[in-house]
Amino acid sequence: MRRVVLEARGDFEEWRKAARALAAAGILPDEIDWQEKSSEPGFAFQRDALPPDPPADARPMSVPPAFMALAEVVICHSDAKRFSLLYSLLWRLLENRNLLDLASDEEVSRLRLMQKSVHRDAHKMTAFVRFKEVAAPAGERRKFIAWFEPDHYIVARKAPFFQRRFTDMDWLIATPKGSAAWDGERLTTSNVPCEKPDISDATDDLWRTYYASIFNPARLKVKAMQAEMPKKYWKNLPEADLIPGLIADAEAKVLAMAEREATMPLPYHNRIKEASARVPAPEMAPAGTLNALREEAAVCSRCPLHARATQTIFGEGPDNAEIMVVAEQPGDQEDLAGRPFIGPAGKVFDDAIAQAGIDRSRLYVTNAVKHFKYAPRGKRRIHQKPNLGEVQQCRWWLKLELDLVKPRLIVAMGATAFYSLTGEKQKLGDVRGRPIAMEEGRLLFVTVHPSYLLRIPDEDRKAHELARFRQDMNQIKALAA
Ligand code: URA
Repeated sequence: MRRVVLEARGDFEEWRKAARALAAAGILPDEIDWQEKSSEPGFAFQRDALPPDPPADARPMSVPPAFMALAEVVICHSDAKRFSLLYSLLWRLLENRNLLDLASDEEVSRLRLMQKSVHRDAHKMTAFVRFKEVAAPAGERRKFIAWFEPDHYIVARKAPFFQRRFTDMDWLIATPKGSAAWDGERLTTSNVPCEKPDISDATDDLWRTYYASIFNPARLKVKAMQAEMPKKYWKNLPEADLIPGLIADAEAKVLAMAEREATMPLPYHNRIKEASARVPAPEMAPAGTLNALREEAAVCSRCPLHARATQTIFGEGPDNAEIMVVAEQPGDQEDLAGRPFIGPAGKVFDDAIAQAGIDRSRLYVTNAVKHFKYAPRGKRRIHQKPNLGEVQQCRWWLKLELDLVKPRLIVAMGATAFYSLTGEKQKLGDVRGRPIAMEEGRLLFVTVHPSYLLRIPDEDRKAHELARFRQDMNQIKALAA
């Protein structure tokens, strides 16, 4: 048995170099005892020398790029088993290059779970790092320090994210698993463990004020909060001690809000009143063609969203389309252009259907909600999710579109579309990808909304989710056929 001892602090090159030399020397997985170098003084493993590096002109080992992507993430995991699992998979890949596609393979599935855990830890780091200002000499850039306790060796991996996000200040992120620092010119990382610095500053109070002001008691979901913000991070979050009090007061606050609501005029009520004077009552019999319906919808005032949107964005496509695609609501570009799904999310959709061989001009594309809902931020209009009441009001139009077009297959993109079509609130993961029988012999196929793909910060995960979305489009093509 050959003992290989690694520093094991998330350095992919360290493992790769060792694995390459061992594999080139033909050393089998069960002939290696992989160990992590202990940080405790006086406790060191006896290590065996690695075989020499393969000669420079030796044929390089050929492993699928997907293995490299997986290994680079898994190496950051803190489980000591990662080295032997990766090495074993590496050997098996030499026999079967498609092994990574076998989700049921035990090693692949263990490594995928490790990969997921590292991604999750990295996501938590982006959410829960809180910088605190420290004294800087007069005239110099402001300096900040943050303390974070990750589960895995993710600091070097996440450092470029913080460099991009906080580029105009000097900062240091210290963790028990290493550190990262940015001084405006150089990003440096180290895997030497740090001690917790003693820091608290005026930004703590700012954070607390901000957090208390954005806390909406009417939207309180304790379980979701606990899942998103596990307690282990609380001790380093300045706002954490506010949370129990905010939760305890939530019910009384919601009641008080409801009472106030009754005495306040509806937002934009003047415009709603004017519009409703112009509009035929929605209960009037719908005309029998899509064009007539589109004209009626152009003056819709069933909910307050019409008051701020530029125009109604009605569905588009042949009136006998076999497939109807239902998305959420128009975005900024659609609101200005007057057509559904032509902005960034629409482009992702167009590319995916094109590769699946689906012709967009044969689809009827529409939204669950026909007006753009947004919050103004300076010159920008920031998308806001429609609420259940708005979706229910707009279902009036969607139902009429379905009655007229009579598609055989309906594609719901995202949870809002699914709710509008079925009246059910479901986790998308539970309904995605398998056709659901609907009234009148129709099939409903559920997938994610393309704007979800655009929001994924991690490039590996984004590529993975995009590939899944494309598979969904292939399935739609097959179902339609
Ligand atoms: N997102 C949607 O859900 N629909 C659009 O039309 C544009 C963006």
